[in-house]
Order: sequence, then structure tokens, then C-alpha cells
Amino acid sequence: MKVAVVGATGMVGEVMLKVLEERNFPITELLLVASERSVGKKLTFKNKEYSIIGLADAVAAKPEIAIFSAGGDTSLKWAPKFAEAGTTVVDNSSAWRMDPTKKLVVPEINASELTKEDKIIANPNCSTIQMVLALSPLHAKYKMKRVVVSTYQSVSGTGVKAVKQLENEIAGIEGEMAYPYPIGRNALPHCDVFMENGYTKEEMKLAREPQKIFNDKTFSVTATAVRIPTAGGHSESVNVEFENDFDLADVRKMLHETPGVVVQDNTDTNTYPMPIYAHDKDEVFVGRIRRDETQPNTLNMWIVADNLRKGAATNTIQIAEYLVENNLV
Ligand SMILES: NC(=O)c1ccc[n+]([C@@H]2O[C@H](COP(=O)([O-])OP(=O)(O)OC[C@H]3O[C@@H](n4cnc5c(N)ncnc54)[C@H](OP(=O)(O)O)[C@@H]3O)[C@@H](O)[C@H]2O)c1
Repeated sequence: MKVAVVGATGMVGEVMLKVLEERNFPITELLLVASERSVGKKLTFKNKEYSIIGLADAVAAKPEIAIFSAGGDTSLKWAPKFAEAGTTVVDNSSAWRMDPTKKLVVPEINASELTKEDKIIANPNCSTIQMVLALSPLHAKYKMKRVVVSTYQSVSGTGVKAVKQLENEIAGIEGEMAYPYPIGRNALPHCDVFMENGYTKEEMKLAREPQKIFNDKTFSVTATAVRIPTAGGHSESVNVEFENDFDLADVRKMLHETPGVVVQDNTDTNTYPMPIYAHDKDEVFVGRIRRDETQPNTLNMWIVADNLRKGAATNTIQIAEYLVENNLV
């Protein structure tokens, strides 16, 4: 495959290259793409040096697959140009996720919806991916009615500028601010921009994307998204009410058997998911599994994943692998 990585110099782009290398994705030619600011810069992949090229040159090269993580505006402008040139785009931004003509894919759940005609495919939001992967077997068996999720999201979810802000604060250096307030020793109930309904855009992604991924509007999700000073890894407190009652042992067994999910749940040994364990791993970690004692058929869980891997790079590359394995590009 001739593959373009758009946004190769960014936080997600860097992990994208690492995951492509680790999974030995079948690359015959690699195009590393970023903004005009970075054209000519060098990056290394599998011990070979590559020069960053611009978007117009990348489109002209007609790659089979283009993996985008360069922000929504870049995607809106350039993904259609790649698609017109015959390239299949897998996009990490929020630009196409809720477009009814585009698929929103977590491979373990709905990759089978993909066809050769899908030229722009959307990768869900990082917080959505880890939540739906853990909810998927439970929804299939007990049918979700309502989910209440509160997130504890790492600064790496905002990009390089935010990671730098935290590093500067720790080192006592005054520098550029990615957030309106300090993030070290703080918690900001403010991920992405505020919308007219008082929610943030991140909270609305968590509310809307699961219905599209499960192709099911019979359940609802309400979210509060909070940024905390962890370097990597998003955590989520998830309260889910089902139509049907469940057995806790059964819930644990089902999660244990779900590909891509790891159960870490033993209060006797203080075993529960944490960002430091999830770091650099592809799995979604689930623990603190317990019944909500205040209402029937309701479960509490704690879900943690590396937002740059399963939340972004790994999920995108799994989609690309599915396309290749099923002759869809
Ligand atoms: N961080 C996460 O956990 C996460 C998870 C899921 C999805 N995403 C999405 O992935 C995208 C990138 O996020 P990130 O965290 O990697 O951000 P980032 O660290 O700020 O990197 C942004 C990347 O986009 C490139 N870029 C910016 N403007 C461009 C333009 N006009 N033309 C071409 N390339 C351009 C940058 O190139 P230069 O270096 O040349 O500026 C850089 O490679 C965003 O859409 C974000 O929403 C992020």
C-alpha cells in the first residue's frame, strides 16, 4: 500500500508512525505530510529518514490510504480532494463523524459496515471509543437505556501545545497557554469549546457518537468532560442503566471475553485501571465494576485507555487493516 500520514509531526501522528511500525502495516511507499511550516523537516520510520511534504503533493501522489490527524479544518478541505483522487481517507478529527453519509467506526463493533464506496471514514472521539468498546457486549445482552459519563482526560488529548503547558508549569517556566487556566494542580470542566446548550463539544461527541456507532437511538448518553493534569490516558466514570437486570459475575465474564478489553478489578489487591498502566497499550481497561445500589438494573464502571493509541492511532490503523484485509481499497 502507498500510505500517507497527514499530521505526521503531531501528537497523534507520532504514535500513528509507531503503531504502523509495530503492527507491520503493509507499506510499499510512505508519504509523511504536515503543514507548510514543516515541509522539508525529517522524520524517521523503520530506520529510514523521510522528508515532510505538503498536502497538494500528497494528493498528486495518489496514495491508496491517507490517515488524517491534522485537525477538522484540514480534513474538511483536503479529505475530499484525496477521495476524488481515489484515496481512502481514515480521519481522526471531528469533521466527518456525524455526517450521515460517512461511517463512524470502531472495528470491533461495526467494521462490517464498511464497503469499497466509503472513501472518507471517521474515527470516533477518543473518549467515545474506550466507552463504547466496554459497553458493546453489555448493550448486546442487557440493552442500555441511559449512560451518565464523567471523564478525567489527559492533556495529551489536546495536542502538543497542552503537553508543553503542563511541562512548563511543572518546571516553573512561563510559556504559551493551551488552556484559559493553569492545568497543573487543577481540573478544568472544559474540554473543547462551549456550545449554545451549555455543554462542551467534547460532551456532545460523547452523547451523540455512541448512537451512531451502535446504529441505535433507543438509549441516551449525558456527559461531563474534565481535563486533568495527567500526561497520557483518559479515565471515565460510567453509570449505565439497562432495560434488563444483569448478573455481576456475568458482566465481568463478558468483559473479560471481549477482544480489546482487559478487566482489572480486585478491590482486595487494590487492582483497578489507571492511566499509568494503560500508557502505551492498545487495550481498554475496565474495573470498579459494581451495582448502582440506588436504582434497578444499573451498573457503575471505571474505564481507562491510552487516548493516543486505542483512542486515536490504533483504532485508525485497525480500520485501515480491515480495509486491506477485505480488499476494500
Ligand atoms: N490527541 C488526542 O488524543 C486525539 C485523539 C483523537 C483524535 N485527535 C485528533 O487528531 C488531530 C490531531 O491531534 P493532535 O493531538 O495530534 O494535534 P497536534 O499535536 O497539535 O498536531 C497537529 C498536526 O496537524 C498538522 N497540521 C496542522 N495544521 C495543518 C494544516 N493546515 N495542513 C496540514 N497539516 C496541518 C500539524 O503539522 P505542523 O507540525 O506542521 O503544524 C501536526 O502534524 C485533531 O483533529 C484531534 O482532534 C486527537
